[in-house]
Amino acid sequence: MTSIGLDVPKNVTCEQVLDVRHWTDALFSFRLSRPASFRFRSGEFVMLGLMVDGRPLLRAYSVASPAWDDGLDFYSIIAPNGPLTSRLQRISPGDEVLLGKKPTGTLVLDALTPAKRLYLFSTGTGVAPFASLLREPETYEKFDEVVLTHTCRAVADLAYSEMLVDGLKDDPLVGDTAPGAVRYYATVTREEYARTGRITDLIVNRKLFDDLDLPALDREHDRVMICGSAAMLADTKALVEAAGLVEGSNAQPGDFVIERAFAG
Ligand code: A2P
Repeated sequence: MTSIGLDVPKNVTCEQVLDVRHWTDALFSFRLSRPASFRFRSGEFVMLGLMVDGRPLLRAYSVASPAWDDGLDFYSIIAPNGPLTSRLQRISPGDEVLLGKKPTGTLVLDALTPAKRLYLFSTGTGVAPFASLLREPETYEKFDEVVLTHTCRAVADLAYSEMLVDGLKDDPLVGDTAPGAVRYYATVTREEYARTGRITDLIVNRKLFDDLDLPALDREHDRVMICGSAAMLADTKALVEAAGLVEGSNAQPGDFVIERAFAG
């Protein structure tokens, strides 16, 4: 057990690690205690990290649990030579982690105008903010149907989102509504799998819509959130804009919002 103690900077609190789960050699998730003062909206991110050589080393992490949960879940890649994640991967229950006091972000329901259907396009650890939103009751008050797409290089990298979607039926708040509203569309790009290909290609060739028996994206019925690498964001955003959707923000709600999946 490590104790950070007196050196904690003013912009963070020191939280207990409650649980850690390793999904693959490069992917793990963990749960932290949540201070009573910590308020956030489902889908937001926060700075998180460790003291390294007497200084805080912090990176942005999406909260992967909903705003009503009394703990805070996070999902992380272990970046090769990543200054933070190479250390963070070794945490265990009882250790302490630094948590920023000011969550923020654009992947929030407030940034979208209402519509029939919500698409959540994610790659890799970009699924984390959607883990929060899928367990948020307001998601189902605002949208009749929610399509989660998750694309990873390998089949094993899908384990986290499979668990997430499978667990919705047992969720205390959305257990009745989510299973009937959520469509899960998992694809893999570097191994054999039931569905293969980048989500961008599956939008262009319409396979995503054909497989789910849905019409092509349109501004009247569809809203979109996108979370992945910088390249994935740029390519997916271009397709969503080509379909006529307009980017929204906290200040001006619109048809779609994007956020980078952080790693480091
Ligand atoms: P690919 O294997 O074809 O690169 P990464 O781990 O590099 O972030 O990738 C996670 C997933 O996102 C991979 O399946 C990868 O496919 C896919 N991906 C990477 N770049 C893009 C992009 N520009 N548009 C859509 N999907 C992408």
